[in-house]
Amino acid sequence: MKAGKKTLSVLIVGGFLSIAFVQPFNLKQSIEAGKKVYETNCMNCHMQDGKGLEGVFPPVAQSDFLKKSPNEIIDVLVKGQSGEIKVNGVTYNGVMPSVEYLSDQEIADVLNYIQNSWGNKNTKPILPDQVKKRRS
Ligand code: HEC
Repeated sequence: MKAGKKTLSVLIVGGFLSIAFVQPFNLKQSIEAGKKVYETNCMNCHMQDGKGLEGVFPPVAQSDFLKKSPNEIIDVLVKGQSGEIKVNGVTYNGVMPSVEYLSDQEIADVLNYIQNSWGNKNTKPILPDQVKKRRS
């Protein structure tokens, strides 16, 4: 009986401790990690300044496409993107191969990076779990 109570209180204290130690998602860290992912996997086409190449590679800097829902943006990376799209009033009809070989974390990081660079601002981070849910 006594031992049972002790076990219970250990469990309760343990529970509180693990809640206290769960780190909130660190957006700043994610953006920093995302910069490296961008330089290795995206910069060839979308360019270092994020401006792309008009008519060929759409810009990710100041892109109105990035105002779409997080799922639509995640899908471009997880599933690839082809067919006609309009970005900032310019029509593109190219093929972006999917980067599904990147981890959920890397995809979240690179999206947080592009959403917070070159004048873009989105303080609501994309989380690895959201990326995971879009894979099928
Ligand atoms: C081989 C060239 C290439 C690479 C590498 C590439 N993209 Fe793209 N990306 C494109 C093209 C082309 C389109 C437009 C496809 C279309 O016309 O339907 C596009 C579209 C997009 C869009 C939607 C439109 C916009 O500009 O906002 C986003 C966001 C995007 N890419 C992000 C990325 C990210 C992040 C990476 C790296 C993980 C990446 N791309 C790697 C060529 C590329």
